[in-house]
Amino acid sequence: DRYSLLILPGDGIGPEVMAEVVKVIDWFQANRGMAFDVSHDLVGGAAYDAHGAPLSDATMARAQAVDAVLLGAVGGPKYDALDFGVKPERGLLRLRKEMDLFANLRPAQCFDALADFSSLKREVVAGLDILIVRELTSGIYFGEPRGIHSDDNNPENEGGRVGINTQRYTSGEIRRVARSAFELARKRGNRVCSMEKANVMESGILWREEVTWVHQQEYPDVELSHMYADNGAMQLVRNPRQFDVIVTDNLFGDILSDAAAMLTGSLGMLPSASLGAPMANGRPKALYEPVHGSAPDIAGQGMANPIACILSFAMALRYSFGELAAADALEAAVERVLAEGVRTADLMTPEGGRPVGTAEMGDRIVAALEA
Ligand code: NAI
Ligand code: MG
Repeated sequence: DRYSLLILPGDGIGPEVMAEVVKVIDWFQANRGMAFDVSHDLVGGAAYDAHGAPLSDATMARAQAVDAVLLGAVGGPKYDALDFGVKPERGLLRLRKEMDLFANLRPAQCFDALADFSSLKREVVAGLDILIVRELTSGIYFGEPRGIHSDDNNPENEGGRVGINTQRYTSGEIRRVARSAFELARKRGNRVCSMEKANVMESGILWREEVTWVHQQEYPDVELSHMYADNGAMQLVRNPRQFDVIVTDNLFGDILSDAAAMLTGSLGMLPSASLGAPMANGRPKALYEPVHGSAPDIAGQGMANPIACILSFAMALRYSFGELAAADALEAAVERVLAEGVRTADLMTPEGGRPVGTAEMGDRIVAALEA
């Protein structure tokens, strides 16, 4: 198989960490007979400097046509004063919106060697590998009616105002994100836990019914369980390793995925992906990116941790290309390098010894693939 990949390094440390991913891609091409059609393009401030827009129409069209997009990071102080319409972040927002990326994937993976960096005890998180799938394009952040109104007819209301948001999900919106979660589970531990508040919310009742319907009709081979989201928050902190894939709505997913991120350690370690509907070749539209931003405070110094971006590519191998063995090998290489004590500056305490730079971390990971 040939895989098409659009690389958008972006700004700040984006190009620095992406250079290490390119080494990894080259290694898989040279040593595992995989064929990638890789193209590079601009996004964010870099695109604004070249075209006066944070994402050109030509780049947008390219993103729609490839199997996967891999993005570094956008933004930086140089662009802070720009008009909202051309801010670097708008490039990313345009990609997400026009590709209709409704499923946001946030893995929480705790490598044994970093277990002491977690906010929780080592024995709770060591070896953790879960995936939160958050619905990203609907729910209470988008539902109508919304707004802040005067509440003049209600003399009991001190201050006289009311703020309104609406949680609204259609069955179709729930079914499509549920399908994403079941498909992903088949490429991992084959278990899905769906979280909502069906005890107090109608949208939660519908969520549970529709996830159950998709499960019975299309994915009976995957193990499905349901949990109230508040209990889910508790269980994520009490015993996170009980989960494989968690699927939940936009609001609960926002909160649960941030909490889960803290189980794992540094921002420099966290990958993510956003998936849309399947394309003609059966692969979902997909954008992979590290969770971190452009880190202007360390940009240009060659000290950024490239692991979040490299693990984002591992997610592309697994979820876009179906190269599960290659994804496992890449994650194992990261694990091995960390176990050898190799650390970028963000992964050590001030008295921790000599950190390696971005390029050396990338080289060590490629060497570990070799071994
Ligand atoms: P940030 O994630 O860029 O940095 C936060 C802190 O974490 C900094 O101290 C940074 O040095 C450190 N850090 C981040 N990634 C690291 C890595 N790979 N290795 C080592 N250290 C790392 O968030 P911040 O400072 O809030 O935003 C900086 C810029 O990035 C802003 O312009 C913001 O808008 C943009 N941003 C872009 C995102 C994206 O492209 N998806 C996401 C978040 C912020
Ligand atoms: Mg958040």
